[in-house]
Parts: sequence; structure tokens; C-alpha cells
Amino acid sequence: KNILDLALIPGDGIGPEVTAEALKVLKAAIGEDNVKTTEYGLGAEHWLETGETLTDETLDAIRGHQAILFGAVGAAPNDTRIPSGLLEREILLKLRFTFDHAVNFRPSVLYPGTTSPLANPGNIDFVVFREGTEGLYVGNGGSMRTGTKHEVANETSVNTAYGVERVVRAAFEYAQGRERKHVTLLHKHNVLVHAGHLWNRIVNEVGQEFPEVTHDYLHVDAAMIFLTTDPGRFDVILTDNMFGDIVTDLAAAVTGGIGLAASGNLNINGTAPSMYEPVHGSAPDIAGQQKADPTAAILSAAILLEQEGYADAALRVNKAVWEDLAVRDNTTRTTQEVGDAIAAAV
Ligand code: NAD
Ligand code: IPM
Ligand code: MN
Repeated sequence: KNILDLALIPGDGIGPEVTAEALKVLKAAIGEDNVKTTEYGLGAEHWLETGETLTDETLDAIRGHQAILFGAVGAAPNDTRIPSGLLEREILLKLRFTFDHAVNFRPSVLYPGTTSPLANPGNIDFVVFREGTEGLYVGNGGSMRTGTKHEVANETSVNTAYGVERVVRAAFEYAQGRERKHVTLLHKHNVLVHAGHLWNRIVNEVGQEFPEVTHDYLHVDAAMIFLTTDPGRFDVILTDNMFGDIVTDLAAAVTGGIGLAASGNLNINGTAPSMYEPVHGSAPDIAGQQKADPTAAILSAAILLEQEGYADAALRVNKAVWEDLAVRDNTTRTTQEVGDAIAAAV
């Protein structure tokens, strides 16, 4: 078997702490000799030292790897040295856009032994297909009369038939392989008529090609009611970039917390490496204290293994995580101890 050639971007805050454990588990799963990693020291420190976020040269180098394992970037909110959102936009979003990560794949499962804050969580097992390259995230907008009482600030959501169709198709293909075979589109077409119409039309068109897959539609606000009162109803959730961001933090919370939520930013046409990362951020409030839960990063490594041709190893990592979650006492173990336990079980 070929060697798995990874770009490693640990980033800021708890990023390096959780990425180290994810890599440890990944190596335990396929053998240390079968993984090659190249670390890219991007993030706050690098920017403070060099004034660079992510250069074209570095992007080209990263493009040469099979896949990217990413931690998190972002400064603490009270760190006035770094402009708000600069690292997120110029590193994380730049990677997603440049490497054409059309599908932001974010599973939500309530694992046995995990506590949900919901009184009656039921059986939660759904995946969010969040569009990854368009919508409000593209930075299409501007402001006029900035700083005055008459300031106008525009952020335009860009939705193309091409971009929408590929994530819709990916969601239906994925749903077809699941037991319930059901796709729910979340949008807000009662207000956002232009984008809403496009998403609806394409879901209906693509849906016809998948007769075994049922689909329905919910306004995203009402969907948040169901996500807290009856989350078990969802199988595959399909939505745009901005709604998907919000929905997946709530989904993480109802399934036991942001420390467990994993994701894959998938390039689905084979033109660039996909990128795997926990849903959470750099968590400056607990950084450097070995308090972060590395499970989200470890489960993201499992998605990496699954997507990059190591399905058997992915299964073993998932199983080790489920077993650990069933018996874990989160109050006493360090980040490293959680990683060690899961790596040993793999
Ligand atoms: P956050 O996800 O970093 O933290 C939110 C809360 O969840 C905090 O209380 C944090 O301690 C807790 N938390 C997060 N991950 C945890 C883990 N693994 N174990 C235990 N607790 C965990 O979100 P935020 O505070 O809004 O953002 C902090 C910074 O990270 C900001 O600069 C933000 O822009 C950035 N960010 C980056 C990414 C990314 O790189 N993918 C994602 C989200 C936020
Ligand atoms: C996420 C994060 C990012 C997003 C930020 C940090 C740009 O919140 O991965 O969910 O909004 O997509
Ligand atoms: Mn988010």
C-alpha cells in the first residue's frame, strides 16, 4: 500500500494539542511507517512574525499532499494585535475555496454513553452536507459611507447552479447508501427567494434521479425547533454555507458537545486534497492546559481514513472512540490521556 502523505496544519490555541492526538491515533491505526507528515506552521504566531497568513507558494506545496489534517486557527477575542477574522479568512477559508471543498461533511451522532443536554434526545444519527465554497462566505459585498450614520454594508450570498448541484448530488448519493435514505433541505425560501428558488429547483431535479431517496424541505428556523425537540427525525441535512455553520454547532451541542464534532472538507472532483478538521475553533479559553477534548479531531482523522481509502482503519478508530466514550470520565483525563487511551485501543 502507498504511504499516506499528509499536510499537517495544527494552527492556534488547542489546534496543536488536539491535532497531535489525532495524528497519534491515525498512526496507531495504519502503522507509523505508512504515514508521512509535513507540518505547516500557519496561524497567529506565523502572522505576527512574518506578516504572512498563507502564501501562494505554501498553498502550492500543500496542494501536493494527498490530504490535509487541520487543527484550528484564530486568535483570542481580546487579542488586539490580530485583526478579527484575518486568520480564519486568509487561512481556513482560503484553503476551502482554493482546494474547491464543495462538500463540508459534518456527521452528528449521539454515541452510547454520551450525555445530551436534551431531556429526550432519542436516537440521533444524521449528517449535514454543508455547501463549502459559496454563499455568504465568498466576501462578495462592500460598504459605503463607512463610519458615518448613513453607512451601508452589503454581504451578498452567491449561489451558483454548479455549486448547488454538486453538493445536492453528493447528499443524495450519500443518502442512498444509508438506511433511511432521506434528505432534508434547510433554507429560508419564504424570505430568500432567489437562492431559495435555486436550491429548491435543483433538489427537486436531482431528487428525481434518486427514486429510492425521499426528500423534504424545512425552513431553517423551524428546523432548529425539530433539532432540539426531535433530532432523531433527521437523516441527511442539506444546506448552504452560512446556515450549515450555525446548524452544525447546534447539532454538536445536542450530541454531547463541540468536543466531539468532526468534519471533512471534501474536494469531490479530485483536483486538490481534501481537508479534515474538528468543527470547533482554537478555544483560547482553555488553550495550553491539556483540557481540550481531542475526540473531534480524532473522529476527523477517522473521516480522513475513510475518505482516503483506509475504510478498515477508519472503522477501528471509530470503534475505539465509541468504546472510550462509553466509559470515559471527562473530568479527570488530559487531552493526551484521551488520545493515548484511544490509540491503545485501536
Ligand atoms: P471555539 O469552538 O473555539 O470555542 C467555543 C467554546 O467551546 C469554548 O468555551 C471552548 O473552550 C469550547 N471548546 C471548543 N473546542 C473544545 C474541545 N475540543 N474540548 C473542550 N472544549 C472545547 O469557538 P469560538 O470561541 O467562537 O472561537 C475561538 C477562535 O477560533 C476564534 O478566533 C474563531 O474565529 C476561531 N474558530 C476557528 C475555527 C477553525 O479553525 N476551524 C472554527 C471555529 C472558530
Ligand atoms: C467552522 C468555523 C469557520 C466557518 C470559521 C472559523 C471561518 O466556524 O468551521 O465552522 O465559519 O466555517
Ligand atoms: Mn462554525
